[in-house]
Amino acid sequence: MHTTKLRVSTSQLQHDAAMLRPAPRPAAPGRSKMKILLLVIATNLVSVYLFSGTSLSLHLPATAPSIHLWDSSALLRDLNATRAALAASLAETAALRSQCNASSLLLESVLAALGSAHGEDNTNPSSTAERFNGWPEEPTGELRLAIEPHPLPHGYSAKFGTDELYPGLGFACRNFQDELTRYMTYDVAGECPDDDALALRLVLKGCEPLPRRRCRPRRFSSSPYVEPRPMPGSLWSIPPDGTVANWSPYTCKNYTCLVARARARGGSYECKDCFDLSVSGKERRRWMSDSRDGVGFGIDAVLATRSLGTVRVGLDIGGGTGTFAARMAERNVTVVTTTLDAGAPFAAFVAARGLVPLQLTVMHRLPFADAVLDIVHTMQLSGWVPGAVLEFALFDVYRVLRPGGVFWLDHFFCHGTQLNATYVPVLDRVGFRRLRWKATRKLDLGAERNEWYVSALLEKPMT
Ligand SMILES: *[C@@H]1O[C@H](CO)[C@@H](O)[C@H](O)[C@H]1NC(C)=O
Ligand SMILES: *[C@@H]1O[C@H](CO)[C@@H](O)[C@H](O)[C@H]1NC(C)=O
Ligand SMILES: *[C@@H]1O[C@H](CO)[C@@H](O)[C@H](O)[C@H]1NC(C)=O
Ligand SMILES: *[C@@H]1O[C@H](CO)[C@@H](O)[C@H](O)[C@H]1NC(C)=O
Ligand SMILES: *[C@@H]1O[C@H](CO)[C@@H](O)[C@H](O)[C@H]1NC(C)=O
Repeated sequence: MHTTKLRVSTSQLQHDAAMLRPAPRPAAPGRSKMKILLLVIATNLVSVYLFSGTSLSLHLPATAPSIHLWDSSALLRDLNATRAALAASLAETAALRSQCNASSLLLESVLAALGSAHGEDNTNPSSTAERFNGWPEEPTGELRLAIEPHPLPHGYSAKFGTDELYPGLGFACRNFQDELTRYMTYDVAGECPDDDALALRLVLKGCEPLPRRRCRPRRFSSSPYVEPRPMPGSLWSIPPDGTVANWSPYTCKNYTCLVARARARGGSYECKDCFDLSVSGKERRRWMSDSRDGVGFGIDAVLATRSLGTVRVGLDIGGGTGTFAARMAERNVTVVTTTLDAGAPFAAFVAARGLVPLQLTVMHRLPFADAVLDIVHTMQLSGWVPGAVLEFALFDVYRVLRPGGVFWLDHFFCHGTQLNATYVPVLDRVGFRRLRWKATRKLDLGAERNEWYVSALLEKPMT
């Protein structure tokens, strides 16, 4: 999002991060089976030990009988006693053996269950997780139809390398089956329910992409649909309210309200000033020149680092209302803007300006082929993104850039101790070459807060 995003309170960022973090998953079935197995082995070892221990102390004669060789009747008595003791011992041994047998049978059955949990033997489905392919309950109805694999017509398996096609679906969707079932409950070929907020909630939790649906989104707007304004005027005008399909998930019910909120000072809304496109608004000044606050670069200075006209297509990750893409459009560069309709209809706003919105969280692999983009810009990737996620995201940016393409890391925000210790090594590891680098300590937080902004222009090397 834009600079304002970075001024959001720490608790808001933590809240956002928490929203992006998947919920804890139940323990894997394999692990709990291993626990049972260990428990069974331990229990049986103990019982065998106790059993054999008691049998030894109880059934062996406490004192060895003395052998009376000179007295035949005493000898017989002794032999009799010994035979009796021996018989008792034999019975004991048999009992012990059957106890061992029972233990080993139990062990065998546990091992078999373990084996089937690892997919070795599916004739004996042992857990619901196994049966429903990771879903807590058996999926039914539309959900089932949307997520299950579908057989290909005869003759296509070689082309696809499979006999059936699997729909795209976020792995984490399995963690939120109740909500997903609600999302997939609708009249087939009818109108979709008013559930944009539910869909966003699922996506933010990692259920991304959502399954496809067989319903038509209805317009839940009070104003009738209005055609967008023509380009290039649309780039800088507040769109008509009627271009938004559904205002119901938002506090504001029209653009007038959003712009008024943008102009109001204070508040914790993350992109609160980015709807104000008026000539006096802050949005008009973004990226127009270097160093507007000591860290920012101007678009023209950045484009000047490349051969004239070679920056043609790009991506802005977390691009708010699309102003970066608008400025690039004015320079004949096509930029796609990733947005999420969190708190306001960002996608509709970007589209109404004549720009391309792409609904994507930062957890999602970028939907571009390798080496196709000339530029990637972001103000969203920052110190709030968990370290491993950030590193995967940076490698993904590197992947989609063409050799000689540039990654503009704009206002990266982090703690001073982490900048050189964590983030600089990560950027180096990804393989970027620094064209420009500007690090500034954030002053508006007070001297005791060691927080930094970095803006960097990084090149994917030509070789
Ligand atoms: C041997 O022991 C049995 C019982 O265990 C008893 O009935 C029998 O009389 C004993 N025989 C002798 C010779 O002690
Ligand atoms: C142990 O089990 C096997 C087969 O499960 C059986 O054939 C054998 O008789 C058993 N032995 C005992 C002492 O129970
Ligand atoms: C815009 O929405 C606000 C509340 O969100 C409402 O008070 C206001 O009357 C609306 N204005 C128009 C022109 O619809
Ligand atoms: C953008 O393209 C149009 C038409 O090709 C051209 O007239 C215009 O000069 C270009 N603008 C810039 C800034 O290059
Ligand atoms: C990071 O390292 C550079 C030199 O390697 C140094 O100039 C800079 O002050 C360091 N930044 C922070 C925030 O410690």
